[in-house]
Amino acid sequence: MADKVRLGFIGCGGVQQMHLEGVARIEEADITAVCDLKQDLAQETGAKYNAKPFTDHKQMLADVELDAVYIALPPFAHGLELDVIEKGLPFFVEKPVGMDLKLCREIAAGVKEKNLTTAVGYMSRYRAGVKRAKEIFNGDPPILLHGGWVGGTPNMTAPIHQWWVVKEKSGGQLVEQTTHTVDLVRYFCGDVAEVYAAATKGFVTGIPTFTIDDASLVTFKFKDGAIATLYSTCAANGGGGGVSLNVYALQHTIKLGGWALDAEILTKGAEPEKFAGEQNIFEIEDRVFIKAVKTGDRSDIMTDYADGVKTAAAAIAANQSMETGKPVTTEE
Ligand SMILES: NC(=O)c1ccc[n+]([C@@H]2O[C@H](COP(=O)([O-])OP(=O)(O)OC[C@H]3O[C@@H](n4cnc5c(N)ncnc54)[C@H](O)[C@@H]3O)[C@@H](O)[C@H]2O)c1
Repeated sequence: MADKVRLGFIGCGGVQQMHLEGVARIEEADITAVCDLKQDLAQETGAKYNAKPFTDHKQMLADVELDAVYIALPPFAHGLELDVIEKGLPFFVEKPVGMDLKLCREIAAGVKEKNLTTAVGYMSRYRAGVKRAKEIFNGDPPILLHGGWVGGTPNMTAPIHQWWVVKEKSGGQLVEQTTHTVDLVRYFCGDVAEVYAAATKGFVTGIPTFTIDDASLVTFKFKDGAIATLYSTCAANGGGGGVSLNVYALQHTIKLGGWALDAEILTKGAEPEKFAGEQNIFEIEDRVFIKAVKTGDRSDIMTDYADGVKTAAAAIAANQSMETGKPVTTEE
């Protein structure tokens, strides 16, 4: 490997720009190539970071020597991971890993076969407050969890909105957005045993392509006994929503709130602990991935590809329950 870790970026949209900003501050990293189907965006991004621009990821993989790849695509657009695997390259992929579980499992099998370093963009697991919570739950397991993601209706001005409101493209709010919270409850409680969910639609009007639910409620039962309910809506235009997760155990209550998941930890008979959520969380997770690629030590990676597939599977099972009205038993 060269002195610096040579990185290629596939997808140059909203979130990849956050990673590029973070990676640009990392000494050991080199932004070598960027790729987006949108030629203007690829060129603009390439010029900004002095990287070679491409509109075809296969061309990028063929033309440029890379040590690892960043993938940030809409949920429906996955699959090119197989080309990255064929090249034997480690990769970081933004959440959710996809919405087609068969494809995700095929990718996971390829990763396993080649023993590749991977990371999934569940950045909340890198937060100090979340790490402290996990430490506590190892000794005082969660019993009841509730939380979710409450926001307004997309105003359709950003590129993400074009695919986000189309269920066949995003998987819906739970699969695409509340997936962060699904991942956290899995992180705290272990494997899911059963999921049941309800959803509603028809309140949001005026966006012809809108096929996602307006709101959903999902209950997870975990193999170790905890129960969690997560709510999602993109129909709360009066404000007052946001991101939250409250966890109750015998001796502790842990409240996580806001995009940065500020944490408040209440312990029976002790002073509360508080952690402010890190604002540069993308850079923090990028540093971990790049260090793992450079050193081969994966121990600081919080969600690898196989784990990301389990989170995707839990949300996809919830979608299935919303459609059938029946509980779904999950296979892990
Ligand atoms: N971790 C987070 O907090 C966070 C935040 C936002 C988005 N995301 C996730 O990141 C992913 C991307 O979201 P976004 O907001 O960047 O979306 P976006 O629509 O802004 O960007 C996606 C980009 O991918 C490009 N693209 C699609 N197919 C491609 C292909 N085959 N080759 C090259 N480029 C291709 C599109 O042209 C587009 O520019 C989604 O899965 C989303 O859920 C994560």
